[in-house]
Amino acid sequence: MSDPFAWLEPALETLRRAHWYRQPTPSGAPGAIVTVGEPPRPLINFCSNDYLGLANHPKVKAAAIQAIEQWGTGATGSRLLSGQRLLHRQLEGAIARWKGTEAALVFSSGTAANLGTIAALVDQRDLVLGDAYNHACLKKAARLTHATFYEYPHNDVAALAQLLDTHRSQYRRCLILTDGVFSMDGDVAPLGEIVALAETHSAMVLIDDAHGTGVLGAHGAGTLAALGQSSPTVIQMGTLSKALGSLGGYIAGSQALITYLQHRASTWIYSTGLSPPDTAAALAALDQLQTDPSLRLALQERIHQLEKGLQQLGCPLLPRPLPTPIFCLPAPDPATVLQWGEKLQEAGCWVAAVRPPTVPFSRLRITLRADHTPEHIDQLLAALAALLKCC
Ligand SMILES: Cc1ncc(COP(=O)(O)O)c(C=O)c1O
Repeated sequence: MSDPFAWLEPALETLRRAHWYRQPTPSGAPGAIVTVGEPPRPLINFCSNDYLGLANHPKVKAAAIQAIEQWGTGATGSRLLSGQRLLHRQLEGAIARWKGTEAALVFSSGTAANLGTIAALVDQRDLVLGDAYNHACLKKAARLTHATFYEYPHNDVAALAQLLDTHRSQYRRCLILTDGVFSMDGDVAPLGEIVALAETHSAMVLIDDAHGTGVLGAHGAGTLAALGQSSPTVIQMGTLSKALGSLGGYIAGSQALITYLQHRASTWIYSTGLSPPDTAAALAALDQLQTDPSLRLALQERIHQLEKGLQQLGCPLLPRPLPTPIFCLPAPDPATVLQWGEKLQEAGCWVAAVRPPTVPFSRLRITLRADHTPEHIDQLLAALAALLKCC
């Protein structure tokens, strides 16, 4: 018998030759300074999505530990069987109040929230329209539904309007998908215009606000709140794993939507409930960020400092209507961005070198945290200035 896996090594070799080969780097407990690699060395952390520093916050950790003591480590089953705990109801109630929606539902990851919700809302009779820079799990979900799926160029509202004018009337339902804050670019979707189009064309909108959650808007309620928008056409999705420092995803919307998802979202129905420590950590983080605005304010100060510094260095930045903690610095090719990442590590800064196929073009992805000091940002700017001089 010939080896049915003989194709694997050549496939990996192709990835290596294209500089697309990837390996996870081990790192220590999250903080502004983090130990990275083997042997571990301390670097300034410009690599995590822990924007408010809550993943290692004493109150959040204490809540997770207390939940383990009271409820154990696992939910032990699907929420519809043995996996429902009081904590889930508390977290879902807190998310709904925070987002200003009738109800919310938590999933075991943001990916599960998107896949389950999108597949529950549309099928081959329907139309899905999505931004070309959307997160990979939105794209994957759209393709799995068997709906007709078109992408529009990044943030191009005129192109979205054109697609709606041309195609909407031929389909039963229409769903528009957009990130709120684009995860790899750091810019923001024109949600006001998208929602207005959705209302005229009787379309649903799902906003993936993984990176706006906890960071933007009053009490960190997200991108939609920051832009002063609300609409019954909107479904707000977010993650518990970024600014909330835990794990999981949520959908916030009308009570009818949430009840429907409890009956039709397969990644919720057929998956074990979110674990007690993850649920309790998210609940404590939500309380912390709502009661302590100093974290968001500190983050915004660092964002403005870096924005100004990058402009002084002449770095091309996408228009940023809202201050987000994600910065994208384009690189000419995958090999170069890897070298840039190594040089920055030599200068004491840990920055993600992101390459295709995750993104259409290679870039440094810099993320900021509330616990960065002005000196951390200065050190990064000095390292970037040295990098740009020798390139
Ligand atoms: C925009 C966006 N949506 C969804 C996800 C998926 O979330 P999770 O990691 O909880 O599966 C991510 C995670 O990186 C993301 O950046």
